[in-house]
Amino acid sequence: MKKYYLTTAIDYANGAPHIGHAYEKIQTDVLARHFRQRYDDVYFLTGTDEHGIKIQKTAAAQGMTPKELCDLNAGKFRECWDDLDISYNQFIRTTDEQHEAIVQKIFKKLQDNGDIYKHSYTGLYCAGCESFLNPRDLTEDGLCPDHQKKPEEVKEENYFFKLSKYKDRIIEHIKNNPEFIQPEFRANEVLNQLEHIEDISVSRSKESVSWGIPVPGDDSQIIYVWIDALSNYITALGYDSENPAEKFNKYWPADVQVIGKDILKFHAIYWPAFLMALDLPLPKTIFAHGWITIDQTKMSKSIGNVIAPKDVMDSFELSHPDAFRYFMMVTAPAGRDGNYSDLDFKERVNADLANNIGNLLNRTLNMQVKYFAGEIKPEFITSADDDIAKEAVKTVEAVKARFDKFEVAEAAQEIVNFSNVVNKYVNDTAPWSLAKEEKMSECAKVLYNVLESMRFIAALLAPYTPNISQDIYEQLNRTEKASDVRLDDLKWGEIPAGVLTEKSKIKPVFLRLDSEIAGAAKKG
Ligand code: ME8
Ligand code: MG
Repeated sequence: MKKYYLTTAIDYANGAPHIGHAYEKIQTDVLARHFRQRYDDVYFLTGTDEHGIKIQKTAAAQGMTPKELCDLNAGKFRECWDDLDISYNQFIRTTDEQHEAIVQKIFKKLQDNGDIYKHSYTGLYCAGCESFLNPRDLTEDGLCPDHQKKPEEVKEENYFFKLSKYKDRIIEHIKNNPEFIQPEFRANEVLNQLEHIEDISVSRSKESVSWGIPVPGDDSQIIYVWIDALSNYITALGYDSENPAEKFNKYWPADVQVIGKDILKFHAIYWPAFLMALDLPLPKTIFAHGWITIDQTKMSKSIGNVIAPKDVMDSFELSHPDAFRYFMMVTAPAGRDGNYSDLDFKERVNADLANNIGNLLNRTLNMQVKYFAGEIKPEFITSADDDIAKEAVKTVEAVKARFDKFEVAEAAQEIVNFSNVVNKYVNDTAPWSLAKEEKMSECAKVLYNVLESMRFIAALLAPYTPNISQDIYEQLNRTEKASDVRLDDLKWGEIPAGVLTEKSKIKPVFLRLDSEIAGAAKKG
């Protein structure tokens, strides 16, 4: 029995979801759906991060309590993930009672271990990062490099965590485990940051931040966001230092934790240190994805170019999220930044989903009906030694290897490459000419090869395009669900002899997006 545990970052509940948040959740969902086709027990966690000064301030500005704001926005995130068919198993909110109680126990345990001490200091605090910044990391003008804002000078007596105590062990772990930070090119950046690492503040005074979990035994302080937020990955499973729940024992350590490159430091340095202090195993992989821009510009409220997934779905009148999911997944190589534009979106999904895959299926089914009344004769079932069959099986292996490295865009490209091979095969063999020449057996075998290839393509694409893949499966008269196909059971030659389809059942699985709509998704 092989388990697989995946997590996303938990989004700040101070606003509504945009396509950058969606990028991460779709990516993790595609991974989860792929690994469900390979492993017995996949568990996928996502949620919202609901404490801290940003949420406190936004709520005050909007005349709400922080909890009211969080309820509103957590609802929007969940609704958005439902619209995008994100198949999470659990949605954690850091205001959940269980989470708050366990975070206090974690804090207490770190204190009991001697890893937390009280310290009076002056620091530079960036609310955007929810973090104190090292003067070394500021821009020449003294701004936070990520938020382009001057950090606030804060004088406080807070609790500190002995991060520096774990420095050497973390460096060693990164060096000995090349799969720990993915893509690998990010590891050096983390090793550089580790060189300058200092102990970190893990609480704030109640006067400066009131919205958070109180430090156990000291009501004048609240636990400051990173212990609170990072712990979600284990509190969700019912971690408890005295009495861990069954789910925790079963799923921890995580197999992959997907996050954005901006919060890699917290996940590759702070988080391992907390886990080491709790004497818990580290996750196998932290995967840092790149950032999504819009028309090559950083998304921001002040620029007014923020796009929500729903804006894209509505403006292109999509009946399901597959095209958007697919585009987001192919817009950037693993770990690199990507861009959304209406034009790129339309062109890419028209080329890959409508022309390359949809048309191939449609043409082939129509020929099957026209030349054979939709029937497949037993003697036309081709063998697994056929070149196309070999190519199909090779593609399954290539896709699996890509997913093992979390290369979601590259895996999609393997599938598209295979569909190109099949399209070329159809054009080269020209089954319509074979039919005209009355070479019916040759013609039937070509069609069979294409239909089998489509079955492979639909199963492999199901993590990206669950609705389109299911539609393809139905038109191929399959009784199993495309998403439930076990890749190890995907064998050539399984479309059986008999009547496969009839004219009335054939319909396009994906209609080309209309060019006139381009530009409409920009709502700000
Ligand atoms: O950082 N493109 O929350 P967050 C791609 N609560 N990814 C993006 C993005 C963009 N334009 N904008 C944001 C937090 N993200 C913390 C995390 S985890 C214990 C706590 C990604 O709402 C970002 O990189 O600011 C992060 O992984 C996630 O969305 C949530 O960002
Ligand atoms: Mg952020």
